[in-house]
Amino acid sequence: MPRIITLPGDGIGPEITTAALRLLHAVAPDCETEEHVVGGASIDAHGTALTDETLAVCRGADAVLLAAVGGPKWDTTDPDKPRPEQGLLGLRKGLGLFANLRPVRPVPALYDASPLKRDRIERTDLLVVRELTGGIYFGAKSRENGRAVDECAYDTHEIERIARVAFAAARSRVTSVDKANVLETSRLWRETVSRVHDEEFPAVLLEHLLVDNAAMQLVSAPRHFDVILTENMFGDILSDEAAMLTGSIGMLPSASLGEPDTPGLFEPVHGSAPDIAGEGVANPLAMFLSVAMMLRHGLGRDAVAAAVESAVDRALEAGLRTRDLGGEATTAEATDAVLAQLERT
Ligand code: IPM
Ligand code: MG
Repeated sequence: MPRIITLPGDGIGPEITTAALRLLHAVAPDCETEEHVVGGASIDAHGTALTDETLAVCRGADAVLLAAVGGPKWDTTDPDKPRPEQGLLGLRKGLGLFANLRPVRPVPALYDASPLKRDRIERTDLLVVRELTGGIYFGAKSRENGRAVDECAYDTHEIERIARVAFAAARSRVTSVDKANVLETSRLWRETVSRVHDEEFPAVLLEHLLVDNAAMQLVSAPRHFDVILTENMFGDILSDEAAMLTGSIGMLPSASLGEPDTPGLFEPVHGSAPDIAGEGVANPLAMFLSVAMMLRHGLGRDAVAAAVESAVDRALEAGLRTRDLGGEATTAEATDAVLAQLERT
C-alpha cells in the first residue's frame, strides 16, 4: 500500500489539499495518506519551517504531495527569523531532489485565457528541467557591514546528473540555458552539458541559449522548445514566465525527483495566494496535475495519471473556469467537475 505524506502548508494550501485528497481517493483508493505541517504552519506550531520529524517521515514515504507555503504573516528580511520557504528548500535538499520537472502544455480550451495571442501558443508542449539543489539558492550567504553575499557554485557532477535527466526526457531537442558570456558557473555548465550530450546522447539535438535571449524566445516562439535545461535560479524565473503561456499560473504542476530510491515531491508551481485563502475559490487544477505527476513518477501508475490529465482537459473543454481563468467555479465545484469527467472514462 503506497504511503503518501501530504503537506498542505499555508494560504490556499489546505483547500487545494482537500480537493486533491478527494481526487486521490477516487483514482487510487489503496493509497494511505498522512498529513504534516510545513512552512508558516510549522513555524507557528514548532518555531521552524520544517522539523526533523517531518523530514524523516517524508524520507520514509513513497511520495510527498505539497500544496504551497508562505504568506504575509511570516514575511521578514531579518536573516535570523524563520521563513516558510525554508521548509520547501529543506525538503528539496534533505531528500536530494535535484531534478525539478515543470511541464508547460497550454490546454486548447484555455488558449484565449493566455495574455499571449493564440497563434503564438498553439501546440506549445515543453518541459522545464530545473536543477534544484545547487547554485545560488544553496551557496554560502552572509551579510556584514552593509554588504550581502550569495555564492553561486556548481560541481561538475551536479551538472552531469541534471543534464542526463533532460536528455532522457527529450523527444527531439534540449535547449540548455545559461549566462556563459558572463558567469563562470555557466561556462562549466555549457562545457559539461555538451560533453554529456556528445558522449551519451548524440542523437538528441542540443542548443545553447543565453538566459536573456531564452526569456524573450519563450514568449515570442514557445513552440520552438522541447526541453529547457537550466540551473536553479534561471529555472525559477523562466518557469513562472512559461506558466503564463497556459493562461494562469494556477495550471502548472511540478515534480521534484532525486535518486531512484528516494521519494519524489509533487507540488503546483503557484504559491499560497494569501489574498484568496479561506474563500474556497482557489483553482485546484495545478494540484490535480501534480497528483497525476505523482501517480506517474512516484508510483509508476501511468494509466491513472493519464486519466486524471484527460479529465482535467475535458472539464475545461466542458466550460469549467475558476476565478483566475475568468469564471466563477469554486474549488469544490472544480473538483466535482473533474471527478465527473473521470467517472466517464
Ligand atoms: C518555486 C518557488 C520557490 C523557489 C520559493 C518558494 C522558494 O518560487 O518553487 O519556484 O524559488 O524555488
Ligand atoms: Mg518560483
